[in-house]
Parts: sequence; structure tokens; C-alpha cells
Amino acid sequence: MSWKSVLLLCLSILEFASGLNDGVGLKPHMGWSSWNVAQCNAASAKYALDTADKFISLGLKDLGYEYINIDDCWSTKSRDSSGKLVPDPQKWTSGIKAVVDHIHAKGLKFGLYGCAGDKTCAGYPGSEGREKSDVAQLVSWGVDLWKYDNCYTPCQQSPRPQTCQNPVGNTKQFYAPMRDAIIAASTQRKIHFNLCNWGRDNVWTWGATYGHSWRMSIDNWGDWPSIERIGSSAADISNYSSPGGFNDLDMLYLGSPKINANQEKLHFALWAITKSPLVLGLDLNTISNHTLAIIRNKGLIDINQDSLGKAATIFRPAGAAAPVRGKIYPYWAGQLSDGVVIGLAAGTAGGSYKVDFKDVPGLKGQTVYEWKEMYTGQGGTGTGVSFEIGLYDMRVVKVLTTVGQGTSF
Ligand code: GAL
Repeated sequence: MSWKSVLLLCLSILEFASGLNDGVGLKPHMGWSSWNVAQCNAASAKYALDTADKFISLGLKDLGYEYINIDDCWSTKSRDSSGKLVPDPQKWTSGIKAVVDHIHAKGLKFGLYGCAGDKTCAGYPGSEGREKSDVAQLVSWGVDLWKYDNCYTPCQQSPRPQTCQNPVGNTKQFYAPMRDAIIAASTQRKIHFNLCNWGRDNVWTWGATYGHSWRMSIDNWGDWPSIERIGSSAADISNYSSPGGFNDLDMLYLGSPKINANQEKLHFALWAITKSPLVLGLDLNTISNHTLAIIRNKGLIDINQDSLGKAATIFRPAGAAAPVRGKIYPYWAGQLSDGVVIGLAAGTAGGSYKVDFKDVPGLKGQTVYEWKEMYTGQGGTGTGVSFEIGLYDMRVVKVLTTVGQGTSF
């Protein structure tokens, strides 16, 4: 081994050893974010408090939805004279801490948004060079999650553009000072660090040593092409998710007028089985009964929150066509602590979908299993499953491998 490879090995061991590994984010986080609801206008105390009430009245808290995350535009456009971030007094009439205390008193958590550059994407103060002081503010307010964006970061272009196409170095470098500040403050408060570098620099390969979850793509724009683009690429990187560090497929855009009822079902189910954080990007005051039923599907939530934290990926049953890049492949499977989840996604064509359990990774031991489907409630015992699935709809089958060991549906 050359001295160069020894050095690289030492550096990567050091980087791994300095990972967050602090007991936070052992399961994909669940909650709500203000961004898709009304962008800047929703970054207010009113939205945070209303959403907390809705989490309780709609039964979402009991299902595991926990984080109320306020995204871009919560502060004033400039820092105060001592360099501190200032919550916009119009949006936070009693400041942030009072809201966080209220949310904590309800048994929920509070998340906030910042940026690794000198400005946030919407032009509010970024944290570059101010990481320690900003984290001290988060700690003093009791913040539980910090989403950290990638706008206005060091760029070969001058002045820095909002979205740099030729950054100065690897994005990692922009995230390291904040990661270190969060680790240093963790004796006072543990903060979930959500990296939002839009999947640049293969963030999934290093995300777990920098944060607890990381956006693996550019935004979900709430249309079918976004769901196809993000959902299909999740298959390739499933191995990088595990307890303490998960691929974040971006907020759930359920209820978006650009997707239909079936696409909403596929969206939620695919995000759930690939172990994405389940962060609702919708207004809970105007949610439809259809969308509400989807986000309250306990079977899918339990699969997402399974303690193994293994993300499902695609598999190719005998005779099935090969995957097509950028399209949602029909056959997905992933290990659960007490079984295997199979996803059947009609993302390219409606029709009849059939799977023999013997073809499913993780189900090689026997031929007959007990199973249950999460959207229809159908179940049975047999050697496989078969469904008629409408275009863009999805079925998620849980197969129990531990029958007789104290588990059953
Ligand atoms: C984007 C980010 C979005 C949202 C937005 C706020 O960069 O991907 O999720 O946070 O900035 O300006």
C-alpha cells in the first residue's frame, strides 16, 4: 500500500469515527414542513402552532408524526448588531422559544431551516462562518432539527449565484463546520442534522458521517415527473440508508393539484418502503379525505418505521422486463425485522401484477407465507400474490417470516 492510500484510509476512518452516531434519527423522521404549503408565507408561528394542533386533532401525533419544521424565510433579512439571527417579529410575535415550548408541551418537536452559504435560497442570512453562534441560538430556543441548504455556497462564479453550477470544492466542506458545531453542542441538546445539498457529490456515500438524513435529489415539485425522477433513483442507493442516517427523498407532496389520486398513493407508499423521512408538505386545514387516509395508513407507517431501517430496492422476477432509467420499476422488496415488504408499483402501466414469493430476495427459505396488503387490507397464506393495479397505483405487501415466533397480523 502506498503512503497516499494509507493516508486516505486514515482520513476515511477518522471521518467515520467523527460521525454523528448519537442516537438521533434511528428511524426516518416523520412530520410536516412549511415549504410546500405557502413557501415564505408559511414560515410563521401561526402555521407552526396550527399544525401542532392538527397533528393532535387528526390523530397524526399518535401515528408518529412528530416534527413541525419551519423552512426558509423565518428570520429578518439581516442579523442584529451582535451577529445573531433574528426571528421575523411579524411572523413570530412572541419569538421562537415560546412557540417551541408550546410544541414541546404537546409532545412534539420543532425543526428550523438554515443554509451553508452566506444567504439562504430565498435570500435570508446564511450560516457560513457563523456556525457556532447559530447553533448556540438553536440550542437556546430548544430546536430539535436543523435542515441545512446549499444556496449561495462558495462558487467559482462571482458574485455567487443562488444555485452554483461549479462549486469551489466538494459540498462536504460546506457542511463540515455546521456538523462540528452540532456535535460540539450535543452535550446540551441533540439536534437532528438534515443535509439539503440536493444529492450533490454522492451525498449518500458520506451523509451518515455528516448528518442524520440527507436529500438525495433536487426538489420534489409536486408533479409526476418529480416522483418518477426521485423514486426511481432511490433504488440505486438503498444500501446507504440505515438507523442514524437515511436518504431523504424530499417532502411528501400529497394533495398537489399536479398529481392524481393514484399517484398520491404510489408517492406515499414508495417513500415509506424506501425508508425516506415522511415529512408532509401540505396544508392540514384543507387536506382531502383521500389524502388523509393515505397519510394515516398505519401499516405503511409501521413498515417505514421498522427497527431494521432497511430501504427497499428493486428486484427482477423471472420473465419481467428490465428496469428503465428514470421510470418507476414495478417490483420492490426490502427486509423488515419480522418479514419482507414487497412493493408493486404500476408507475408505467396498469394491469395484472404477480409475484411468487420464491423470486423475492429475502424469501428463499420456504414457499408458503402469511401476507397482508396495506392499501386494500387483503391478506392470506400462499406461495405468492397477484393484484389488478390501476395505472400509477401501488400495492404494498408485508410477508411475515416469523410466524410461530410470537408475530401475526
Ligand atoms: C431549496 C430546498 C427546498 C426549500 C427551498 C427554500 O433549496 O431544496 O426544500 O428548502 O430551498 O428556499
